[in-house]
Amino acid sequence: MSDDVKKVCAREALKWIKSGTVIGLGGGSTISYLIQYIKEDADLRVKVVTPSVKTRLLCIEQGLEVLYTSAVDQISVAFDGCDEVDESLNALKSGGGIHTKEKLIASMAEDYILLVDETKVVNRLTFKHPVVLEILEDSLAYVQKKVAALGGKPVIRVSGAKDGFTVTENGNLLLDVYFEQVEDIASLESELQQIRGVVDTSLFVQVATKALVAGEGGVRLIAS
Ligand code: 5RP
Repeated sequence: MSDDVKKVCAREALKWIKSGTVIGLGGGSTISYLIQYIKEDADLRVKVVTPSVKTRLLCIEQGLEVLYTSAVDQISVAFDGCDEVDESLNALKSGGGIHTKEKLIASMAEDYILLVDETKVVNRLTFKHPVVLEILEDSLAYVQKKVAALGGKPVIRVSGAKDGFTVTENGNLLLDVYFEQVEDIASLESELQQIRGVVDTSLFVQVATKALVAGEGGVRLIAS
């Protein structure tokens, strides 16, 4: 997504925010633009919860109040990016490895709105990106066996450090699971969730309530 398209998308997102509310902000560059626009709007006063360290630091830098998510039980609207979303609002996130907290914030929000461009929208999820599982370290071999039985190819995510595994803020491991073909997205999500040791998956089945899709001709809305 070009920076100009991201900005158009972020500007449109601003229209969905009511002053005086708690909002959720995920990660990514479109969210960074949205933070800037919130800051610039003198009439808009909001408090923020976020799963992303980068977003938290950016909000603080811009003078936005960031609350502990643990002290909040309701969010009016949350915005996030994703890697792929379909026309039924099923989405796949893969990059940041913070999907467990992202999904929590999404569930707490009355509205969970994905900010994307047309290149990320598909009729049906293609799974060219892996499904990411956050897993307890002790469950590694067990979860690898279970996902292989479901047709997935699990690859443990490594950090830059030699032989180092990526460890999440929650102290867990990340397993990138590649699927060639997925017949039933909802069943796959449910089966993955049921594997003991899996904390959460980056497959967001009917979690988003809307997507703002930016393209050359402007922004269109996909709504549930
Ligand atoms: C990764 C994500 C990110 O939120 C998403 O990739 C951000 O995209 P962009 O920088 O284009 O706004 O979900 O899984």
